Amino acid sequence: MSLSLWTHCQAATMQAQAARPYGLIADAALVLDGPVLRWVGPRSELPPDLARACITQHDAGGALITPGLIDCHTHLVYGGDRAAEFEQRLQGTSYEEIARQGGGIASTVRATRQASAEQLTASASTRLRALMAEGVTTVEIKSGYGLALEPERTCLEVARALGHTHPVSVHTTFLGAHALPPEFAGRSDDYIDTVVAMLADLYAQGLVDAVDAFCERIGFSPAQTARVFTAARALGLPVKLHAEQLSDSGGAQLAAGFGALSCDHLEWLSAEGAAAMAAAGSVAVLLPGAFYFLRETRVPPIDLLRQHGVAMAVSTDCNPGSSPCTSLLLMLNMACTLFRLTPEEALAGVTRHAAQALGLHDRSVLAAGMRADLAVWDVQHPAELAYAFGARPLRQVVFAGVLR
Ligand code: NIG
Ligand code: FE
Repeated sequence: MSLSLWTHCQAATMQAQAARPYGLIADAALVLDGPVLRWVGPRSELPPDLARACITQHDAGGALITPGLIDCHTHLVYGGDRAAEFEQRLQGTSYEEIARQGGGIASTVRATRQASAEQLTASASTRLRALMAEGVTTVEIKSGYGLALEPERTCLEVARALGHTHPVSVHTTFLGAHALPPEFAGRSDDYIDTVVAMLADLYAQGLVDAVDAFCERIGFSPAQTARVFTAARALGLPVKLHAEQLSDSGGAQLAAGFGALSCDHLEWLSAEGAAAMAAAGSVAVLLPGAFYFLRETRVPPIDLLRQHGVAMAVSTDCNPGSSPCTSLLLMLNMACTLFRLTPEEALAGVTRHAAQALGLHDRSVLAAGMRADLAVWDVQHPAELAYAFGARPLRQVVFAGVLR
């Protein structure tokens, strides 16, 4: 048993049932038992026996401690960039038009297929380290820029390996139904057959934790999405969906019908979609970086989500086309300024609700029995994490009980 004690800190426990905003404890003590939290509470209530048993003591110097942050929706592994497309969009061509002309996701697929695993690892590692420098200890990484068995495998293997070479938990999502690859032009149903076959293969290799699709005019229809989800369910895999990003195609209702962990984007979400998500317990993953970068004007229906009690997560959507962003703290700020979340909702969106969007129950709140993934911040109040942008407030990270 190697217990360690953290004192001289405030703790934003983010416990849902806590009466105080952020579950904030002003003068807190945390006892870590290896990779797990043993005790969290006001220092005045720390049992003396437990305090004496702590071999290591950390004086946090008045810092704020939060759970390690969770980025629950990224496309971190890809080749190339889309800066030229950004210029095109600024001259008036829309994201959808560029996709229909063979650019967009298809252009990143070309670059990803050409890249070696080493090149993909190097560029993804740079992006991952930027996220980790802002306190991210768990990250979801989607495939979806290979769109054929071997390049999808490479991307998922790269993603898995990043979780072994960096002090961060990586959760992988298979997004074979992201776009129609050029070799299947005019044969999208045939491509869905291939997606189902790829899923079985990659799942058997242990590379898939969840399954996603892009249900949209420039993606796949609800019927095609349902075929992918049926295959996922047969394997016992949870699903999530890029839903109602550019139009309302009823994707949220469909995904909810499959008990989706989350529906993501949701600018065009309908009242029926929100009700279905509430009934299924699906999390709404808000992606303000994509909204901002595509210069969208239609905001996700936040009040509707609140009325239905749908949990809201916030994520970077880190990808080359709609959100080339590696700052989860900037997303906290944008979730507040652009979507009108409260700073407390935004912080829950990168902790408790982000964990829920990944189906993880062992982290994201500071409580006994939870993983000891902590972020230690040079701020006086948790709202500062959403308030400042471009600040570098992270002081230290504890990952699975180990100080980094
Ligand atoms: O989450 N909308 C679909 N997928 C990504 C963007 C992919 C791309 O443009 O490369 C998203 O926005
Ligand atoms: Fe995305």
